[in-house]
Amino acid sequence: MKIIAVTNQKGGVGKTTTTINLGASLAVYGKKVLIIDMDPQANATSGLNVEKDICIYHALIGKKTLNSIIVPTETENLSIAPSNISLIGAEIELVNYPDKEKILKNLLKNINGFDYVLIDCPPSLGLLTINALVASNSALVPVQCEYFAMEGLAQLLHTINLVKKTFNPALKIEGILLTMHDKRNNLSKQVEFELKRHFPQHIFKTLIPRNVRLSEAPSFGKSIIAYDIKSIGSRSYMSLAKEVLKYA
Ligand SMILES: Nc1ncnc2c1ncn2[C@@H]1O[C@H](COP(=O)(O)OP(=O)(O)OP(=O)(O)O)[C@@H](O)[C@H]1O
Ligand SMILES: [Mg+2]
Repeated sequence: MKIIAVTNQKGGVGKTTTTINLGASLAVYGKKVLIIDMDPQANATSGLNVEKDICIYHALIGKKTLNSIIVPTETENLSIAPSNISLIGAEIELVNYPDKEKILKNLLKNINGFDYVLIDCPPSLGLLTINALVASNSALVPVQCEYFAMEGLAQLLHTINLVKKTFNPALKIEGILLTMHDKRNNLSKQVEFELKRHFPQHIFKTLIPRNVRLSEAPSFGKSIIAYDIKSIGSRSYMSLAKEVLKYA
């Protein structure tokens, strides 16, 4: 079971879009995938047409087992540990828990039957994101191709290194993923160039283009594969899945 945190403290860079659609693409390849929604905004949950009162919050505070809150989605091979707004309390409530950084890691020890676990992180570097990084084998970092893309990346890499030094020495960088890319736009080209210059070994070959179908799909509660398999968004996330699977 490989556990990947999809993370960037910057908001709106494509974390949730990537979690849902990479998850659905890996499921197409026959992998059993679990998405863990660690964001109180619960966008991955609603984007997969799931709504639950009992959620990851109740597992984190020890009221439920992780297994008992996992639900299937409409996509074969794709399950989710949902979130809802109650998770907003967790950052504060968990502060005095023993091993507060390892709560998710410990919950995941009792999970089996999945090939991939993708954790959708909130846009912050708080305790929920730390729990995700401590529990994971690797971090996948979506970066939006826009002017402030590089800002914050140093902070994120610093946090990843801190988690490596303290709780999770084996933590790797799965890759940096360029999202909302527009090949006609000079800024997109510039961000791509800068990222490749700074992190040559970490950039995914797959670029995710700006594609309106990707932004429409969640309002129908569907992954891009279920919503429009022929779209460029669909093909891009399938190509990313191939890279993650090392088929490419
Ligand atoms: N490749 C894309 N093309 C077009 N729209 C996109 C693409 N990727 C994401 N979006 C849209 O951009 C917005 C932000 O994406 P998303 O919710 O995935 O980001 P996020 O990093 O999870 O945000 P947050 O930090 O709030 O959790 C959403 O409206 C989404 O539909
Ligand atoms: Mg999100």
